[in-house]
Amino acid sequence: MKHHDVIIIGAGAAGLMCAATAGYRGRDVLVLDNAKQAGRKILISGGGRCNFTNQKVEPANFICGNPHFVKSALARYRSSDFIELVERHGIEYHEREHGQLFCNDSAKDIVTMLMTECEWAGNKIQLRTEITAVAQQENGHFTLITSNGDFSCESLVIATGGLSMPKLGASPYGYKIAQQFGLKVLPTQAGLVPFTWHAEQKIRFEPLSGIAVPSTITAADGTQFTEALLFTHRGLSGPAVLQISNYWQPGEAISINLLPGENALEKIELALKNHPKQSLRNTLSHWLPKRLVEALFEEVQLDKALNQLGHGERETLADALNNWSIMMNGTEGYRTAEVTLGGVDTNELSSKTMQANNVTGLFFIGEVMDVSGWLGGFNFQWAWASGVAAGLAV
Ligand code: FDA
Repeated sequence: MKHHDVIIIGAGAAGLMCAATAGYRGRDVLVLDNAKQAGRKILISGGGRCNFTNQKVEPANFICGNPHFVKSALARYRSSDFIELVERHGIEYHEREHGQLFCNDSAKDIVTMLMTECEWAGNKIQLRTEITAVAQQENGHFTLITSNGDFSCESLVIATGGLSMPKLGASPYGYKIAQQFGLKVLPTQAGLVPFTWHAEQKIRFEPLSGIAVPSTITAADGTQFTEALLFTHRGLSGPAVLQISNYWQPGEAISINLLPGENALEKIELALKNHPKQSLRNTLSHWLPKRLVEALFEEVQLDKALNQLGHGERETLADALNNWSIMMNGTEGYRTAEVTLGGVDTNELSSKTMQANNVTGLFFIGEVMDVSGWLGGFNFQWAWASGVAAGLAV
């Protein structure tokens, strides 16, 4: 049985970052992964350009059963630290709206950078390896039985990620290890995920597929995002929808403001004053795509002139524009979700080191735990920060 100081299960964002950090401290590190390639989620992230972090990262950008948990790791490894690493490797990047940073060329650059760091730090990375059993010995060391040999280690780091994108090898393995060692795992749910239509909504709205409009979407708990809303064949997507999906529970309505920052009633009253004979269809088509107007107001007589509408009708129209309350069927689930909400309960872990409070030597990092970020590079920043926190402690 070959012994290493540290074994990390999962050669993804968090695992590779942790490996490099621990390796530079002189720890002998082995990274195991059952995939044939390291960092596969990084490669497809950000449309192939990897939104690797955000200029402005705050604890409020994360969803976690214990909102204070993320503070320590995020404060000790900031987005500026990762940007400095990216720059040191000569990777060119650019900023998009809301402080999101993307590679100019390809997400491959980030994987190459992490693999180079691991190489410089002296880490061994063993892919295509199935772990069949993990146990802790009386001396506190862990033993791992795998398809590629048996190993022992002092510190075992679980970096197996969440359940999103099973096609890429996502697995519940990390949760199983947590449960095996008596740690609580909170229920999981797909996050940063598009919504799907009910059958009757699909008939009405499917023809709008491809239309994108600015919006403010509000969840039942009052959380709000102002970003683009995209109509798709299957339902609603776009950044505003992905963001709000993190705060949505099945059976809850969402409220969509199609005229963000504007008072629809005031707009209608002004149009009535200036163009009393203009049809409702023409008026609304100045503000929203015509096809959307027709689908949204299919029960309204759009040919009526503005001065033929009663005050109550104008109020109802304004409400539909500023507060379109819609009950979606569900989400596209883990198949397309970017993250998994829930996971290993952070109350079981040290926020400084990511070590399990009751199992010395066992660490959890990245998405496997109950920490999910907003869209915009926050999930990678959590992978980097929690990976570094554990890498300094293993
Ligand atoms: P990650 O999933 O990266 O790695 C887990 C590793 O564990 C994998 O290599 C896997 O093969 C391995 N593994 C799993 N089970 C195993 C087992 N049983 N045995 C051995 N190994 C096992 N975030 C962001 O900030 N910016 C972005 O642009 C994007 N874009 C994006 C696009 C898409 C399509 C998705 C699905 C996700 C994103 N994300 C993102 C989210 C981001 O990819 C995610 O939060 C991080 O990759 C999480 O890092 P981890 O290291 O925790 O898991």
